[in-house]
Amino acid sequence: MTSDKHARHVAIIMDGNGRWAKRHHLPRAMGHQRGVEAVRKLVRSAGGMGIECLTLYAFSSENWSRPDEEVSDLMNLMRKFIKSDLPEFIANDVRLKIIGDWQGLAPDIVEMLEDALEQTSKGSNTLAVALNYGAQQEIAHAASLAAQSGAITPETIAANLYTADLPPLDLLIRTSGEVRLSNFLLWQAAYAEMSFTDVLWPDFTPDHLQSALDDFARRERRYGGR
Ligand code: FPP
Repeated sequence: MTSDKHARHVAIIMDGNGRWAKRHHLPRAMGHQRGVEAVRKLVRSAGGMGIECLTLYAFSSENWSRPDEEVSDLMNLMRKFIKSDLPEFIANDVRLKIIGDWQGLAPDIVEMLEDALEQTSKGSNTLAVALNYGAQQEIAHAASLAAQSGAITPETIAANLYTADLPPLDLLIRTSGEVRLSNFLLWQAAYAEMSFTDVLWPDFTPDHLQSALDDFARRERRYGGR
């Protein structure tokens, strides 16, 4: 397998938790809860599939406009997830990374995340979780840092993105049949392959990820050349 055919960095827009819950006549919160279980299974299998970095869109800057109860359910799931899965990350050599304006979250979550980042900092495979993330905000921020240091060029902007230390994005997956990027990794997606599936996020399994990777391996990436 050539390096071009092997996805090192995969990002996922995890969509469809609400529709999954509705379809199963369950409260929305249950959809998100099952969504976390899907995350857990994927994180366990991603390293074995040769993925060096898995980036997940967990909470966008726009998600604050959801009802307070749902925002609070999502934040509580995040607390529980970090608490319960941190020992497994450490044991499995997973490095946690948070992208987005996460310092603006509740102080106890910030503290928990800081601790988790520190404890997993030596891990070799990265799980990057986007929290309070918006790509336009990220690009504007990177451009203003680039301007302070001199020239604004594609290279200086890229060097100031949250993802500067990650491999280039190879594959971006969105579940639940929606075909848009929703302010996620707009810069990084410039040459990424896209994969859209109708599967709702709680039903997305490592087998679905593997078939997206197999599909990726069959594509020819030309980066604007021919
Ligand atoms: C989209 O479903 C999903 C979200 C807005 C949140 C994604 C969060 C999780 C899977 C859980 C937390 C993540 C981690 C990493 C612990 P939706 O509610 O927009 O679904 P709908 O479009 O069907 O209503």
